[in-house]
Amino acid sequence: MTRKEFIEQVGIGAAALLIPGCFGACKKTSNSTSTSSSVDFTISVASGALATNGGYLIQNGVIIARTMAGAFIAVSATCTHAGGTLQYASSTNDFTCPVHGAAFDTSGNVINGPASTPLQKYITTLTGTSLRVHS
Ligand code: FES
Repeated sequence: MTRKEFIEQVGIGAAALLIPGCFGACKKTSNSTSTSSSVDFTISVASGALATNGGYLIQNGVIIARTMAGAFIAVSATCTHAGGTLQYASSTNDFTCPVHGAAFDTSGNVINGPASTPLQKYITTLTGTSLRVHS
């Protein structure tokens, strides 16, 4: 074996060792992205803001409101215009952004600009006093 042949053989071997490591790193990045976009958590509504009609709170990036009729609704807490943190207005049963005045209905649809993109809406399931919020 010549010196040139030896270097070529070692180079191919090193590349073969590095390729699986690269695929592993790429896979981890993909998994972390999908985890951060999913929502699935449970909170108690026995006490606190959600114990009474008209109350709301923000948890895990989700604004959860209890309407005056007693229904639970949940949407993304971040305004789609420029990232303001939303509030729930029980008197008008909608979500408002204090930054520039956007408003969203209980399904997350825009009812007042400047936002033009709807909010992500989440499913709420009440079991006893435990409320599950999920995608
Ligand atoms: S950030 Fe909400 S309306 Fe502009």
